[in-house]
Amino acid sequence: MSLKVNFDYIPEHCMVDFEENALRVKSIDKMIQLKTGKGNDFLGWVDYPVNYNKEEVERIIAKAESFKKNYEILVVCGIGGSYLGARAAIEALNGLLPHNKKGMEVLYLGNTLDPNYTHDILEYIKDKKFAVCVISKSGTTTETSVSFRILKEMLETKIGKEGAKDAIVAVTDKENGALRKLANDEGYETFELPRDIGGRFSVITPVGLFPIACAGININELIEGLKQAREDFSSNDIFQNQCYQYALVRNYLHNIGYKIEMFSSYEMRFRMLAEWWKQLFDESEGKDGKAVFTTAATFTTDLHSLGQFIQEGTKVLYETILHIEEPEYDVEVPFDKDDLDGLNYLAGKKLSYINKKAYEGTLEAHSETGGVPNITITLDKMNTFNLGYLFYFFMKACAMSAYLLGVNPFNQPGVEVYKKNMFHLLGKPGF
Ligand code: PA5
Repeated sequence: MSLKVNFDYIPEHCMVDFEENALRVKSIDKMIQLKTGKGNDFLGWVDYPVNYNKEEVERIIAKAESFKKNYEILVVCGIGGSYLGARAAIEALNGLLPHNKKGMEVLYLGNTLDPNYTHDILEYIKDKKFAVCVISKSGTTTETSVSFRILKEMLETKIGKEGAKDAIVAVTDKENGALRKLANDEGYETFELPRDIGGRFSVITPVGLFPIACAGININELIEGLKQAREDFSSNDIFQNQCYQYALVRNYLHNIGYKIEMFSSYEMRFRMLAEWWKQLFDESEGKDGKAVFTTAATFTTDLHSLGQFIQEGTKVLYETILHIEEPEYDVEVPFDKDDLDGLNYLAGKKLSYINKKAYEGTLEAHSETGGVPNITITLDKMNTFNLGYLFYFFMKACAMSAYLLGVNPFNQPGVEVYKKNMFHLLGKPGF
């Protein structure tokens, strides 16, 4: 495994002094390890890669096998932390086209109130064999509950109550909440969303594991990657721990005025990974009028839309680039005897080679010419193990980063405000 974080493309005057902050990092690490900081009852993810319920993972694999045999499509019904991680993993590993040879086609509902999108999904699945995985910690999230009610009714009408019982899996709290009660009453197979792990840290639990397994991905490999990262990022020494280095650098950039972090990559497959990453940092840190706002771009595509701003616009952003050395697949540029497009200088070259040159040229343009601080995170390749490793890297960095900022990384009080207003306008009893 090789994950390398590089800070060489950060201008000297924007680079934090590790030595000066070594003790601060040590003391926050202690808070994380001993669970003494704000939000300390949501640190279950730290040791989950070794403490997880092995019997439950066996059950997840068995149920996913049975789903793969009996149904074409899995509809994942969840929102925010209850779906982004699974989708990020499935797209990063299987690609963007829904059909893949490895497992079920996975679609997503419950993440929106958009009637057009919901209609389109329902139309698409109505005559196909589909199963549903409903995921909600609280069991009361409006988007998820409304969509699940629709899906449940559709399934029961199509294959009867007994059939629906086989085709529905619920991931929720082990005892509490409306979804737990419904699942118990209906007799659905359930998996546990641990109480001490918040939504945006839950991709490593059944929330992520079950849909990922249905997509034909080996979840034991993902867990191995998580485990390895837990070990590799356990040091409290800032000079040894790259994930704490990343947290410290982003905190310093925030303090000197860089209030936007752009996650960039050169592969379309990582667009949802960027969405997951955005939620992780924004929901964890955006409190008390503080924090870096995260955004994302896919290059080279977005160089043709956002590139101008990055290069020459307001100096408010820095970039964190996920660079994968070897793509899973490659494509060669053919020779053309007429060469009317003038591309024969690239004939025989692979797209990965051209993409890499674009990466190198852009890195230099943005950092050296444009003065935009660039952090690079390089992986040799993207595979299931490395993705688990990367998930853990970001989660631990996020905890450190939020504590450096002085906020509770594990709550999200601001999210409730829109819900209360919406419930009031909808006439929900009690609002
Ligand atoms: O990370 C979070 O806490 C949120 O994104 C929640 O996961 C999201 O709001 C869904 O909540 P629930 O799982 O209770 O339906």
